[in-house]
Amino acid sequence: MTFADQCRALGLSGLLAFGLALTGCNQASTDNTSSTTTNSATASSSSNSTTTTTTTTTSGQKGTYLIGMSQANKGEPWRQAMNDQIAAAAAKHPELQVVFADAAQNNAKQVADVENFIQQGIKLLIISPNEAAPLTDVVAKAYDKGIPVIVLDREVNGNKYTMWIGADNTAIGKMAGQFVAKWAKDNKANPCNVLEIRGLEGTPPTKERDNGFRAGIAANPAVKIIAQQTANWTRERAIPVSQAMIQANPNFNVVYGENDPMAEAAIISAKNANKDLSKILFVGIDGLPTPDGGIKSVMNGRLGVTYVYPTGGAEAIDWAVKILEQKQKPPRKVVLKTEEVNKSNAAALYKKYGGK
Ligand code: FRU
Repeated sequence: MTFADQCRALGLSGLLAFGLALTGCNQASTDNTSSTTTNSATASSSSNSTTTTTTTTTSGQKGTYLIGMSQANKGEPWRQAMNDQIAAAAAKHPELQVVFADAAQNNAKQVADVENFIQQGIKLLIISPNEAAPLTDVVAKAYDKGIPVIVLDREVNGNKYTMWIGADNTAIGKMAGQFVAKWAKDNKANPCNVLEIRGLEGTPPTKERDNGFRAGIAANPAVKIIAQQTANWTRERAIPVSQAMIQANPNFNVVYGENDPMAEAAIISAKNANKDLSKILFVGIDGLPTPDGGIKSVMNGRLGVTYVYPTGGAEAIDWAVKILEQKQKPPRKVVLKTEEVNKSNAAALYKKYGGK
């Protein structure tokens, strides 16, 4: 279900009638505007400032607890999936009202989004930060005001938040490295040259997935990372980056993309460079169970392997309910389970994770 579908399912006809362009239900990027969407019916907006804010008023028995969800960007499928999961989980709790904001990969905008939520009087903040350092202070500000803060996926610095939910990026990177170490041995690739496409450097998973990968490939000294470049987590950026890397390093055996969209971009670049794709291993991370996602890509033989990186969206709402309604003290850290997706289990995992 797309986020727009979720909004419809949540009865957002009034909001949709106001024009999708103003709301978080819009799939298009809303650079330089701050858009928020809630799951109730009346919207108002102001568009003559640098930020466009869509707020809603509550009707009926809804809206006992207003929750702000600050998303780093909605341009990436994995983040859209996170928002979708939050909306779906929240829809099961009529007493929750979730306001979404999209920072469009802009740290300053995400700071403004959180400030805005604080002004709106949210009862709990869920945030998936764009970069750690620039978001640390505003998260601490919300926390110091007594607002419970659930951090998803990318961490902030320090300890001024209530809990963090995410998967272990070092462990995932290590599994990917071990897979490459074994693949090189099985395919007698010696040397086995790896091109690594990294995420945004200010985000903790970039370093963690790199550290883990290096630990994993240590099992086979033939495996060497011969080049690494950042592509800021996006497929769009990874197209020219991978093209340049392949041109500068034509003899490579493996591409390690720190997420699936960047690994997919490298497949396109390798194809354009007339490489024999059957001899190259493409490794990704995310494993979304969607027609364009990583699991299908492994099923179709494009990616050789990927790793399910759960968004934590449903868990964040579970914990929001426990914190707000059941007054439970949450653990500081909830580590989500990952799974390797390879040729032999991809079809089963696609089903298991609800792929259609
Ligand atoms: C989306 C994303 C995912 C990745 C995660 C890391 O923005 O790049 O693809 O797994 O963020 O924080």
